[in-house]
Amino acid sequence: MAGEQMNDHAMTRRAWLTAFARTLGTGAALSALLPMTSRADVSNAPPKITVYKDPSCGCCTKWVEHLRSAGLHPDVHDRTDMDALKNSLGVPTALRSCHTAVAGRYVIEGHVPAADVKRLLAAAPKGIIGIAVPDMPAGAPGMEVPGRADRYDVIAFAADGTTKLFAHH
Ligand code: CU
Ligand code: CU
Repeated sequence: MAGEQMNDHAMTRRAWLTAFARTLGTGAALSALLPMTSRADVSNAPPKITVYKDPSCGCCTKWVEHLRSAGLHPDVHDRTDMDALKNSLGVPTALRSCHTAVAGRYVIEGHVPAADVKRLLAAAPKGIIGIAVPDMPAGAPGMEVPGRADRYDVIAFAADGTTKLFAHH
């Protein structure tokens, strides 16, 4: 039994090395070796996202429309206890905005572009629990102001509150 397993393992490894050598030979990108199944899973599943927002806030609704037009499927819930919700989801105080969403195992805080949400879900990085656009920068999705597009950052945050840059716009 142990011998069979070792043979299987050796064969898999040999097949992998052959594929690797072929890839190097053709000069194709190393990313071609990523398992196709996991990439297909990400693109085939309809990206679901649960959005929590205050019923009186209009920019949140505009952000939801932005998600829809980008092919995401937001499930929207009005909440009047947004601070308590952000506390329970571990959103650092300094990174807070209006609405809060949950996509897969990540928290999405504020006016994060849909493209960044998709990139987060596809990359599924370990060590962070969410990404945020703090406050409400003019020009972020759902915060469009004619003739104005402020620079803003998308910040990744960990469970212990540490942060790092995820994207700059
Ligand atoms: Cu807002
Ligand atoms: Cu809002």
